[in-house]
Order: sequence, then C-alpha cells, then structure tokens
Amino acid sequence: MKTIASELFKEFREHSVSEFFRRNAAMLGYTGKIRSLTTVIHEGVTNSIDAAEESGVLPNIFVAIKRANDSPEHFKAVIEDNASGIPEEYIPDVFGKMLAGTKLHRHMQQRGQQGIGISGGVMFAQMTSGKPARVTTSVGNGEIVQAEVMIDVDKNEGKILDKEKSNGDWRGTRVELEVKDVTYIRSRYGPFNYLRMTAIANPHAQIGFVEPDGTLTVFERATDKVPERPKSMPIHPWGIMSDDLLVLAKHTKSRTIAGFLVAELSRVTKGKVEEIRKLSGVDMNKRPSGLTWEDAEKIVSTFKQIKFMAPPTEGLRQIGAADIESGMRQILKPEFVCASTRPPKVYRGGLPFIVEAGVAFGGSAGKSVEGEAEGEGAETGGLDLIRFANRAPLIFDQGGCAITAAVRSIDWRRYGVDIATAPVTLFVNVVSAYVPYTSAGKQSIADEPEVFAEIRSAIMDVARELRHYLYRKIRTKEKQQRAGIFEQYLPVIARKAAHLAGTEVPDVGKLIEKVAGVKVGGGKETPEEG
Ligand SMILES: Nc1ncnc2c1ncn2[C@@H]1O[C@H](COP(=O)(O)OP(=O)(O)OP(=O)(O)O)[C@@H](O)[C@H]1O
Ligand SMILES: [Mg+2]
Repeated sequence: MKTIASELFKEFREHSVSEFFRRNAAMLGYTGKIRSLTTVIHEGVTNSIDAAEESGVLPNIFVAIKRANDSPEHFKAVIEDNASGIPEEYIPDVFGKMLAGTKLHRHMQQRGQQGIGISGGVMFAQMTSGKPARVTTSVGNGEIVQAEVMIDVDKNEGKILDKEKSNGDWRGTRVELEVKDVTYIRSRYGPFNYLRMTAIANPHAQIGFVEPDGTLTVFERATDKVPERPKSMPIHPWGIMSDDLLVLAKHTKSRTIAGFLVAELSRVTKGKVEEIRKLSGVDMNKRPSGLTWEDAEKIVSTFKQIKFMAPPTEGLRQIGAADIESGMRQILKPEFVCASTRPPKVYRGGLPFIVEAGVAFGGSAGKSVEGEAEGEGAETGGLDLIRFANRAPLIFDQGGCAITAAVRSIDWRRYGVDIATAPVTLFVNVVSAYVPYTSAGKQSIADEPEVFAEIRSAIMDVARELRHYLYRKIRTKEKQQRAGIFEQYLPVIARKAAHLAGTEVPDVGKLIEKVAGVKVGGGKETPEEG
C-alpha cells in the first residue's frame, strides 16, 4: 500500500495563484471574444479612476483600441490616466503578481478590491498574444519609467523585460496590452457602451475613446467637483466570520487580543472586550498571533449575543441624486430624469451599504437596437437597466444579479411603463466597502435579502416620480387635444350666437381656457361660412 501511495504522490505539485487563474481565466471575466476585450478595458479604467480619486484629481482617462495588422481578432488596448503614477519598485507587483495591491486589506469603498484586476489583464494578454504589458508611469521627481512586464506564472511574480527612464512633467499611468482572439463591436457588451456607462456614473470624469476605425468620442464631464475620498471603515463585529478574524489577527500591530479587537473592528470598546471575555472565556491578554480557530469561533459567536452600536456609515460615498441626474442628462439627453439615494443600511448584521437609483425617459434613453450580444439575445428596445457597484458598470452576468431580480419583481404597469417598448433607462448603483459580488469576475450582486429590499425600494422611488411625469404628460396631451377641438368650433358658434342675439362676440380664448383647462395661443380661426 505504502509503495503505491508514494509512487502516486510523486506527481504531487504545488501550483501558484497565477497558474490557477491562467487555467481559469473565465473566473476573471475572460470568456467570449467581446467580453474579454471589455474586461481588459474595465480593469484598466477602474484602476485609473480609483487612482485619480485617491490623488484628489479630476480623472482624465484616455482609452484606445487599435487593430493589429495580422488578424481581425488581434488588438492593442491602451488605457491612460492623469493620476498618481506607480512607484518604480511596485511596478512588477502591480502588473505581475496576482492578489497584490493597496486595496485588499483596506475596508474602503473602492472599485478595486482583490488585487487581481490588472495582473489578470496582463495574464490574458500574455496568454493570447505572448506579449508583455507596456507600462509608462510617472514615478515622482519628474521621472517617467517605461517598462515591459510579464508574469512569471510559476512564481506568481512580475518580470521586467525592458526598462527605460526619461524626464518630463507628464503625470499618470499608461498601460498597453496586446490581446488576441477578441472582437471589437459597438454592442451593449462592448467597450463603447462600457465607457458610456462609466461616464454616466462618474460625471466628474472625462473619458476619451478611440475605436479601431479611428473614431474619437469624448464623454465630457458634467461636474467639476472631485468626489470626497471614501474613508476606511473597519469591519463591524456582526459582519465578520471566524476566518476573517484569524486573518486580521495575523496582520495586526496590536500586542493583545483585547487591543486587537478594539483597533481592528468598529464599535468594539474596552467595556465590550470585557463582555466578550466573560461570555467566550477566551484570554484577552494573549498575543493575537496565538489566536486559535476555536478562540475565533467562540469570539465570533459571542459577538452575536452582544449589543453593539450599528456600524458607522459615514465612510460610504454615494454619487448623490443630483450628480446621477447630471450624469444621465449629459449622456442620454432625456426629456425627464430623476434620481434617489437611499439612507445607509446594513446587511448580514454588520456590513453597511447604500443603494441609489435613477431613471431617464426619452432622448436616447432606453435600449438601443444596435446591441447584439454573445448568447444573451439581441436587443429590441424598451427598458434599459444599467447596473453599477461603487460607480463601476456591471455589464455581464445580468441574469444572476440581485438588481435584475429586483427590476423583475416590480409590476411596471402600475407605473405606466411598458418595459418592452418604453424609452426608459434605469440606473442602479450599490455602494459598499463590501459589495457582495457573486464571483471574482465582479459582474453581479448576490441576493442578500437586505440589499435586494433596498434596491427594490430605490427603484420604486424613481418609478413613482416617472409615473407622475408620464401621467402629467398624458394629461397635458389630452387637454391639448380637447382644447384643439374647442378652438376649432367655439369661435364659429360664438360668432353665430352673438349674431343671433345681436350682442358683441365674446373672448373665445378665455372661454376655452375655462372649459379645457389650458391656455390657447393665437387661436386658429375656422373660415367663415359664405
Ligand atoms: N493606474 C494606476 N495608478 C496607480 N496605481 C495603480 C493603477 N493601477 C493599479 N494600481 C495599483 O495596483 C494595485 C493592483 O491593481 P489590481 O487591478 O490588480 O487590483 P485592485 O484594483 O487592488 O483590485 P481588483 O482586483 O478588484 O481590481 C492597485 O491596488 C493599486 O495600488
Ligand atoms: Mg483593479
């Protein structure tokens, strides 16, 4: 027995994270020819806007997709920003190491969370075209570094193939990725629509885009206000699991478990630590590194029995109703728009979030007919749902998303909207440091009951406003039609009646106003009968 086992286990190997994602690129959104190209753009653009926000500048983003000559499915994608740049020593890790970044451990509401986005893009480029990423970035002191980076898949490490330095006052980061086996079309799922949606949810950003045929589109910013930076929000005891607690304990600088709980979690005070100690029996003076799985389980189950203040929500940054409206107005030029930002709520007991919704009617709102999709059916007009998490568009996996489920759960006829034909764009943004994504591809939101309920309420807030608008619109139209009829016949009747009675012809305009409820302008005269 022993020999067979040792024979079999000669094959036993360790694999790196990069190797895992190389084989499972679909988990990161690299599936389908259109989607893969959009995913590359998404990873670059979310990082650029995050970085701009962090350095407090209004984002100027430039994206280009250029065709390579040898094949119709071979492109070069360029994403450039005007943000902080990346310090030279971090270039290999940013682009060549998966699960590495500045956002992973921060408990802050940002577009990126996992430290796998852009390195995933580099991996996809290298897998399909064999080419390294070309990175240009300002590294401080007027220095600009240009480097070619590849991922050493076995080690999950970045390799610099070539590096040059120059001087200049350009600031920002430019990433160029060469990708094969992808398609560019202007569909709902393609990069154009992705950037258009990004512009709607980020009215403070200016986004320029050059398509493969050379067409330049500039999505201009609708506001000059730099959004306030989100604040770090330590996790609330009710939102934590034993495993998270162990991970936090491993990285803390505190010297005792008591100190660690106060420092790393929100709403835990010294008094609460005493309660936790009594209820759990765990020694609070131990070093956090000595925390065992059993300790962690005991502490976490104790948390549920203790009354804590609700988690803080002031670190959350919503777009705000006024900016959603300007974003939608700028891009969709609708005849009616309104938005609603709900107050902060909490899911799973300790994870704060905010939902906001917007609706636009008329103009270029509604689904466009040009949209073709990969396996998701062609578009035919009607209600266009655009989904966002922390202002980043979600365009894939629509079917499995709590936002879609919420839209479907609403009886739209009650709001006077025929979702198959109405020129309506519905906008939903879920804001949280802990967006409950269904997978690492971050394209759909999990069905957490509290989140679902808020999405539904936000949509109903704006749907109600839309109903009022549509109702007013129909009423005005009816009134105008009625006035039209009166306008046509009343003057004749009035003249004849006055003639018969031998009195003066009355002011017909006032009469119509009284009867039809609308003002008439310059009343169209019917010709007098012979
Ligand atoms: N354009 C940029 N400007 C400045 N820093 C950047 C830029 N792009 C990436 N970074 C840095 O590189 C890190 C890794 O980026 P990456 O996209 O791989 O992960 P992430 O954005 O942290 O999370 P996610 O996997 O969810 O995208 C970021 O956390 C950020 O610190
Ligand atoms: Mg990212």
